Amino acid sequence: MNFAVLASGRGSNLKAIIEAVQSGAIKAHLKAVFSDKKDAYALEHARRAQIPTAFINPKDFHDRESFDRAVVERLHEFKIDFVVLAGYMRLVSDYFIEQYPDKILNIHPSLLPEFKGMHAIKKAFDSGVAVTGCTVHIVVREMDSGPIILQEPVQVDPKDSFESLEEKIHQAEHRIYPKAIDLFVRGKLKIEGRKVIVL
Ligand code: GRF
Repeated sequence: MNFAVLASGRGSNLKAIIEAVQSGAIKAHLKAVFSDKKDAYALEHARRAQIPTAFINPKDFHDRESFDRAVVERLHEFKIDFVVLAGYMRLVSDYFIEQYPDKILNIHPSLLPEFKGMHAIKKAFDSGVAVTGCTVHIVVREMDSGPIILQEPVQVDPKDSFESLEEKIHQAEHRIYPKAIDLFVRGKLKIEGRKVIVL
């Protein structure tokens, strides 16, 4: 199976995924890394691993769908079977989702359905919850709402700062995202409505 990662930021999840591919923990080909941000450090992680990269500039397109059409065109060139969003700061269009139904994975830094959207870690920290975490899910039209593949809880200690909580959540992300991708690649996930059954 071939996959691509779409990332907009520092790319620590991408790095964990690259390492999992290199160690054989994920038995699939990471064919390309695309970004909507020219300076995303994720692109640097990809270059270091000699994975083809592309920066696709949203400013070159009128709207979300025409941008996504360009992205999907590139994905087709690389014969991509499934797509992994790793800190990709854009909503994907219905067109994109229709091209890869149940084949787009995303990671979110909270225990969904809690704290959807931007700044999830800050929202959790400010709200005073004792437990938060991270979630890998299938991407559907509604943001941060698709069938959940894996979640890992993270304890919020009274002495945690926002930064220490963020760090714990990122570490949990780096554990569950490669695991979820491996399950997906091995055909171990059966999606039934809102539920994912791990076979
Ligand atoms: C992660 O916290 C992920 O959950 C969210 O964006 C962040 C990306 O971090 N969607 P990185 O670029 O992988 O370091």
